[in-house]
Formats: sequence, structure tokens, C-alpha cells
Amino acid sequence: MSVIEISGLHKAFGPLQVLRGIDLSVERGDVVCVIGPSGSGKSTLLRCVNLLEQPDSGTILVGGTELTDPDVDIDLARRKLGMVFQGFNLFSHLSVLDNLTIAQRKVLRRSGSEAVETARRNLAKVGLAGKESAVPSQLSGGQQQRAAIARALSMNPEVMLFDEPTSALDPELVGDVLGVMRQLADEGMTMIVVTHEMQFAREVADRVLFMDGGVVVEQGPAEQVIGDPQEERTRTFLARVLNPLK
Ligand SMILES: Nc1ncnc2c1ncn2[C@@H]1O[C@H](COP(=O)(O)OP(=O)(O)OP(=O)(O)O)[C@@H](O)[C@H]1O
Ligand SMILES: [Mg+2]
Repeated sequence: MSVIEISGLHKAFGPLQVLRGIDLSVERGDVVCVIGPSGSGKSTLLRCVNLLEQPDSGTILVGGTELTDPDVDIDLARRKLGMVFQGFNLFSHLSVLDNLTIAQRKVLRRSGSEAVETARRNLAKVGLAGKESAVPSQLSGGQQQRAAIARALSMNPEVMLFDEPTSALDPELVGDVLGVMRQLADEGMTMIVVTHEMQFAREVADRVLFMDGGVVVEQGPAEQVIGDPQEERTRTFLARVLNPLK
């Protein structure tokens, strides 16, 4: 059964057509990596799935709920989705533990002890046991991003959406974050990951989607889309990403 089912998704900003008919279905446990040039609409796609942007037309179903239904309970629907951005979006004045418990308590109405227990479990999972009382500025970028992942996981999402989660990190910190994401994938989490990390896409993705100009130009297994692309636009993009100096 598909956890995410998108069909005919269109989104424009004024005269700019950013998404021009996206169809995508993601099965439970699948990892889909989305690649494509800057401005191709990757972030807009994720933001539509998370209802941070209102689509102009098309339908989006998440876990059987139609997000695009005008009568949908947006807050309830959004709870199915965890989102991790390029910036970490942690509250700078709160400890790591409080960053992880606040939405659990306010949105899910969990008791303090249940929220803390869930937070500790997820901090341990991302390798941050012992950092509960640190504030974000006391953590490295990679640790902050792992805390942001643990925060999203603490809401028990059905699907995790990642928008270039490692692109703001120093190179030596990228591996730890990708390692956490790989572990999530191995545990069966359904994930859509916008990334320029081709090695990660090759090793972890069940499917790679190449977007350009607001459409899905090509999709398939990583070894096909990255290893043996069929479309000229995909080849041009990959050549640029894999050999930036050429
Ligand atoms: N809120 C907005 N208002 C106006 N234009 C927007 C808005 N959000 C995005 N755009 C435009 O839509 C186009 C697609 O943007 P989007 O952020 O989805 O691209 P992207 O594929 O994620 O690019 P990048 O790889 O640089 O992150 C861009 O031309 C961008 O300027
Ligand atoms: Mg983007």
C-alpha cells in the first residue's frame, strides 16, 4: 500500500510555474531520493507534501488521508510527517531535551515523563545520549542536525521528509548524519530525501527521482538513474554534480 500518493501536483508562485504535474507514489518502507538542479522545485514538492505550501491543483494522500481535501484537519494530517530541513530550526534558548519534548507535550498531549522517555530514546538512537541539557549552540552542526532528526522522530511520524539535511554541514560532519539516516532506512522508515549526496542515494535509496523544471524527468532504481541515466538532462546534471570542475 502506498503511504504517499501524489498525482497531478501543480504549484505556481505568481507567473512562475514551479511544479508542473508531479506524480509520485511511495510505498511503506521505501526510501526515495530526489535529485535535480537548483530551482527545479524539489523543496516546493516537499513543502507541498507537508502543507507548508498550498498546491494549486492535484491531490496528495498521506496514509490514506487526502491533504488536499479542503476539509482536512491540517494539524492532524501533518502529524503523520516529520520534516528535517537544511537549517536545524532548533529553539536556541531551549535545551536539547526541551527541544524534543515541547511539541510532544503541546501537540500530542503526552505526559512529561512519556515525552522525556521518548526524547531520550531518540537521542540515544542518533548518538546524542548525554547531550540532553546542552543548548543548541553547544553542539556541532552535525549534532544539531541529529537532534533535529531525533525531534522529528519523537513525534512518531509515518513518513520522514528531508530537505538537503547535510548541505549546511562541514564535510567531516556529513557522515554521521547520513549514518543516522541510513539506520532509519534500515529500520524500515518511509523517507523522501532531497539530497546532492549521490553516494547515499546509490546505497540507500530504493528509487531515485530526477526533477528538472518542475517535472519528474526520470525515475527508477539508483543504479539506473545515477548509474545509467536515459535522459540527456539527467546526464548533464550528474556530470556537473559528480565533476564540478569540468
Ligand atoms: N515562496 C516562494 N515565492 C516565490 N517563489 C518561490 C517561493 N518558493 C520557491 N520559489 C521559487 O520556485 C522555484 C523552485 O524553488 P525550490 O526551492 O522548490 O527549488 P529547489 O529545487 O529546492 O532548489 P535548491 O536546490 O536551490 O534548493 C525557484 O525559482 C524559487 O525561486
Ligand atoms: Mg531546495
